[in-house]
Amino acid sequence: MEYKPKIALFQCLWCLFSEADQYWVDHNLPSSIHLAKLSCTGRINPLYILNAIQGGVDGIMISGCLPEKCHFKEGNLSALRQHDAFLNLLDYIGFDRERVRFVWLDLQDLGRIQRELADFEVFLKELQPEKQLATRVSALSGGSND
Ligand code: FES
Repeated sequence: MEYKPKIALFQCLWCLFSEADQYWVDHNLPSSIHLAKLSCTGRINPLYILNAIQGGVDGIMISGCLPEKCHFKEGNLSALRQHDAFLNLLDYIGFDRERVRFVWLDLQDLGRIQRELADFEVFLKELQPEKQLATRVSALSGGSND
């Protein structure tokens, strides 16, 4: 059976997808992509990402507003700074930092979320599935992932 990477998509609620793109995200996401909406990418908590990794995702995409259009002024830039700091933790647990991708989208970017996800899926397919990592993260947090 063909390997289908599991992706967690964290989407800012205010991210100005076109209506058609938002409909696609809300109703037609492939089952391999799990959607979580946030009030701003600035609200993303590293624990959300760790939980997703512990849940066995192969990649994480965070989609937010363009920097100048964040409803919370610099929420997305703060998320990006947090993300930079978080990369050290990913290195520590052995999760390839390239498996976490940020995209900033706007209303004019028709169909871009589909293209970004398809491109990310191709990229993740070229990497090995991330199986052992969920177990390592679980062991770090004192839980079991069996
Ligand atoms: Fe969308 Fe901040 S409101 S990223």
